[in-house]
Amino acid sequence: MGNKYLDCINNVCHGKSEATDLAIRLAQHHTRNTEMITLDHAYHGHIISALNISPYKLYQQVDNSHLMPEHVYVVPCPDTYRGKYTDISHPEQDLGQLYADEVKNAINKMKSQHKSPSFFIAESMQSCGGQIIYPPGYLQKVYKYVHDAGGICIADEVQVGFGRVGSDYWAFQPQGVVPDIVTIGKPMGNGHPVAAVVTTKDISDSFKASGMSYFNTYGGNPVSCAIASAVLDVIEKEKLITHAKDVGQYWTDKLKSMMSEFSIIGDVRGLGLFLGIDLVKDRNSRAPATEEADYVIERMKKEFIILSTDGPHSNVLKMKPPMTLNRDDVDFFCSKLAIVFKELENKNNNAMLDTNVTTEVSNTTSCHNDNKVTDFLSEVQFNGSFPLTETSGNTKSLKVY
Ligand SMILES: Cc1ncc(COP(=O)(O)O)c(C=O)c1O
Repeated sequence: MGNKYLDCINNVCHGKSEATDLAIRLAQHHTRNTEMITLDHAYHGHIISALNISPYKLYQQVDNSHLMPEHVYVVPCPDTYRGKYTDISHPEQDLGQLYADEVKNAINKMKSQHKSPSFFIAESMQSCGGQIIYPPGYLQKVYKYVHDAGGICIADEVQVGFGRVGSDYWAFQPQGVVPDIVTIGKPMGNGHPVAAVVTTKDISDSFKASGMSYFNTYGGNPVSCAIASAVLDVIEKEKLITHAKDVGQYWTDKLKSMMSEFSIIGDVRGLGLFLGIDLVKDRNSRAPATEEADYVIERMKKEFIILSTDGPHSNVLKMKPPMTLNRDDVDFFCSKLAIVFKELENKNNNAMLDTNVTTEVSNTTSCHNDNKVTDFLSEVQFNGSFPLTETSGNTKSLKVY
């Protein structure tokens, strides 16, 4: 699998965090440079070396006891919907170039301090940042800047690899690049803990030349290798890559068609079976609908659909289902989602009525004029949610729930 694009080794680890750590070591031995470039909102693992390049996690801290090292440069995530440069803020511009220029700026900053990049690391589509699909040409431009400065490029394919994009085996392929190191994990064992680092012979030779061999008690164990190999067989025999393309396109089309009915859907994006729905309070301002997203995932759970939210505002519904998901499952999903969105609309309408009613109540509670109260009741009762009247003597008042 690695041989098609990269020359060399697969080192089997237990978890993807170990793979990130090994990739960092390989990069350091190969380039002898110190500086590291990572994307904002990135996550690459739970061990210290991986956390150092994972703003997503470090931002969660309240005590700031794990500081990001000074040799780590965080560049903006190329999110064209709500990032630093968007289709609205920079219409008609090459957003891939604008975001790649941020990497170039980071490299220039290093150079001004007589330093150079060891590596640039990014998921090939960013999951933790809110299911972000990079603008065309972004990785090509970035990889060139990094290579020209003596660094190497690492693609984290742990969430996005193994055919999920539908068009290719790896998510870096649609961007037209070949990374120097690829780290893989999660789906690799379909639940069994196994991960790997794939790289070039040159890079592994530099590592070997360091004299420090790689040792890992369970690394390369035959059981994990057999499982990983069986996963590859199933992906091929069951044609899961074309399946991901077909079902992913069907799903995307359905979700996009729901946009005309539900204004809460600000954006539907993705490739294959890696999709995100960016929920907004308002399509013009793109204000993130965070509480609504939380409501959706809790309600969907009650419909037996497990979803999560992601992105810096936790407002993006994240879909990265098993590769066997089919069109019927998509229909089921969309029908339940429509029910939950309708509930949200009703809740919002009620909340608006709630405000109106409260105002009216203060105007009418002491009112003895039955007609005025009755008019008001017929106005609000269309919604059917309020047990509305209480009578006390000659006074009719509204009780708002
Ligand atoms: C993109 C990415 N990289 C690395 C990791 C770390 O993998 P693991 O938890 O297997 O160590 C994760 C885990 O969620 C991840 O999503």
